[in-house]
Amino acid sequence: MTIPAYRVGVRTIDWVNDAVEIIDQTALPDELRTLRLSTVEEMVDAIRRLAVRGAPALGVAGALGVALAARQHPDDPEQRARAVAAVETARPTAVNLARGARRAARRLPEGPDAVLAEALLVRDEEIASSEAQGRLGADLVASMCDGPVRVLTHCNTGALAAVVGGTGLSVVAELHRRGSLREVIASETRPLLQGARLTAWELGRLGIPFRVAVDGAGAFLMSRGEVDAVIVGADRICANGDVVNKVGTFAHALGARRAGIPFLVVAPESTVDPDTPDGGAVEIEDRGADEVLAFRGARTAPAGAAAVNPAFDVTPADLVTAIVTDQRVITPPVVG
Ligand code: MRU
Repeated sequence: MTIPAYRVGVRTIDWVNDAVEIIDQTALPDELRTLRLSTVEEMVDAIRRLAVRGAPALGVAGALGVALAARQHPDDPEQRARAVAAVETARPTAVNLARGARRAARRLPEGPDAVLAEALLVRDEEIASSEAQGRLGADLVASMCDGPVRVLTHCNTGALAAVVGGTGLSVVAELHRRGSLREVIASETRPLLQGARLTAWELGRLGIPFRVAVDGAGAFLMSRGEVDAVIVGADRICANGDVVNKVGTFAHALGARRAGIPFLVVAPESTVDPDTPDGGAVEIEDRGADEVLAFRGARTAPAGAAAVNPAFDVTPADLVTAIVTDQRVITPPVVG
């Protein structure tokens, strides 16, 4: 279904008329369309294909996926447990997915309605969290940089990665509202182009001036004095302050350190994982070779070439200037 223009405020993921409705992020920026997910199998497939993606959105997807499981298998605890496990493990790196699924699953003994109520709470908390991150993050940037600022972002940290608002991009939007933003450099984010496809699409709709750069240009633009701060999101923030985020983030952090500009991580509290000691303990999702060796179905590397495709990397805590959540500003470590 293509969403009419008047529904531009549509949520990235929601519960609508007894099913989960998501914006299909594989179709953007060409087409804004929604997908309805009525079964756990459809939800798991959407998560794996990145039709729904981004840590906070995955948290909501995990919780709503369990709500689907509760309805699909009301009288079969074994099938239900298998379905819950499939949701929880659909992707391994963002802590929000398993956390959202487990939180909803704790209500299973009370029946499907209780599970759905919990999932809707997860959704509502992410909405409130985005707004708080925007405010706290913009205050922090204002205290560190002389505005109007030029910000480099990586991957997509906007409404599409959450329910509305987003993480890093909610800070950018708040800076823009305050008249404190000059420009965004959206790092394109190889290989699936979340920056070029999704962030650029969102920034355009928000009326925020931006340019897209190849990932490899980031450090050079910083060294040439064209960026005042780097703002990224996170898929998992470890106890020692290591930040796991989209591959390419580590390189931007190195560039920021060399250029002497702030490297800021913005994420909900639901992404902070005190049970994971450091980045070395996180399972980094490895995705298929085709994403690297081909582009839109056309091979770009020689036949027979192999590829390595880690979807995320670990930025060591000592490169992180500050982590902004909905509740606090942390300078690593997070715990201890
Ligand atoms: O593979 P993706 O697109 O799900 O990766 C998303 C990211 O790495 C984001 O930067 C991260 O989830 C934080 S943004 C809310």
